[in-house]
Amino acid sequence: MSMTPEEGRRLLAQRMVWKEVTASTNDDARELAMAGAEAGTVVVAETQSAGRGRKGAAWFCAPGEGLAFSVVLVPGWPREQWAWTALGAGLAVSEALEQMGFAPEIKWPNDVLLEGRKVCGILVESLGERIVAGIGLNVNGGQFPEGVPAVSLEQVGGRPLQREGVLELVWRTLLDVVGRGVEDLSAAVWERLAWRDGEVEVDQEGGRGRIVGLGPHGELLVESAGGRVVLTDAGSVRRVVP
Ligand code: BTN
Repeated sequence: MSMTPEEGRRLLAQRMVWKEVTASTNDDARELAMAGAEAGTVVVAETQSAGRGRKGAAWFCAPGEGLAFSVVLVPGWPREQWAWTALGAGLAVSEALEQMGFAPEIKWPNDVLLEGRKVCGILVESLGERIVAGIGLNVNGGQFPEGVPAVSLEQVGGRPLQREGVLELVWRTLLDVVGRGVEDLSAAVWERLAWRDGEVEVDQEGGRGRIVGLGPHGELLVESAGGRVVLTDAGSVRRVVP
């Protein structure tokens, strides 16, 4: 059963490790997980000196503006379906943002978009019986490094937000999402999946096509002229701008 906001605040206070500066909250959460930390333990940092993104990219979060945190999880679904965790975390962020009045989309496999720009990146790492889900969320401000088009909640919503409240809501929703079945998860992710309306380009097999579904392990299914391409979570997809 899901937590009330009051229970969420109380439990989060018990399970949160807050750091002014650290290298990467994913590394801290991994250490805690290896030492047996319980599910829901979360490491939050004001500044990361070596924040990591997918495929070795760096992740930058301006102090006082964004949220950078990593949560220790024990997903309810079978081990061979753990690849759903990044999409599950994207779903949790999306559902939390929807509750705040935003209209997010999930960009397969690990981003959340607002108005077509990246508002959140997710880095999932598994170890033993646990998973660490690292979440970088652009809450306030609007200065981002060159590269991927990014946006903050403040830029879209027109007013700054209190980060503690956003953290509590995302954290509570994430714990709820990992307790759901994969079928429910798949349907909820599909409903919010970005770029279902046009052509995409995939890095694997170099094809172009249309997104037609999600596979049993969270793969992206793309129908191209050369046939069906099944992208695993190591793959990437880009929108083809008409
Ligand atoms: C990506 O977009 O490639 C994923 C970015 C993930 C960034 C978060 S911030 C908190 C956690 N700690 C890290 O070092 N990375 C993740």
